[in-house]
Amino acid sequence: MLFCSLMKFFIDTANLDQIKEAEELGILDGVTTNPSLMAKEGIVGEQNILDHYLKICDIVDGDVSAEVISTEYDKMIVEGERLHEIHPNIVVKVPMIQDGIKAISYFSKKNIDTNCTLVFSPGQAILAAKAGATYLSPFIGRLDDISWDGMDLIKSIAKIYEVQGYNTEILAASVRNPLHIVKCAEAGANVVTCPLSAMTGLLKHPLTDIGLEKFLADHKAANS
Ligand code: E4P
Repeated sequence: MLFCSLMKFFIDTANLDQIKEAEELGILDGVTTNPSLMAKEGIVGEQNILDHYLKICDIVDGDVSAEVISTEYDKMIVEGERLHEIHPNIVVKVPMIQDGIKAISYFSKKNIDTNCTLVFSPGQAILAAKAGATYLSPFIGRLDDISWDGMDLIKSIAKIYEVQGYNTEILAASVRNPLHIVKCAEAGANVVTCPLSAMTGLLKHPLTDIGLEKFLADHKAANS
């Protein structure tokens, strides 16, 4: 299996401080949010929500997923177009429901980027790709939570997209820990979105800490 692009790192939060911290690492490619994450930051009211997305776009030079709240096609279109107008990097996040697929088809024809969210099966992944979704968000952690293997879903979708030649990027979501990130890289995810703690968790190894402590102690002893 040959993949031509490096796995991108998105941060899964609406917290501006955490987004800045991830951005300062120099490895951040984008941001995903959802209505729960926005509510967690206390961002309420339509104008405040739009303003907050703009603040995120000012921090990160990359795709920023902003989710529609509507579940009816006509309303999704109005909402998605409003989100799209905020900033060129906004990706309209649309739930995997019948009207959502219709909306993704519409946005695709208008060259508006989309992220199809709440994906839990290969069949849903096929439908979203056929509709022209830019990104597909399979939720690994929520599958693991109910004792299904979330990583099997990523592997299955990666295989299907490779065989069929779909352009939709697999954006592994509901990623909860560093091992999820490593396994996503192995399985062929194009993007991983995760909390800052999972991203920085990749840094950690006790032998690194022990080794650094010894190097610095040896240097100090030799130079004192
Ligand atoms: C991202 O797009 C999803 O909304 C998010 O990853 C869900 O993560 P959770 O299952 O930890 O809430």
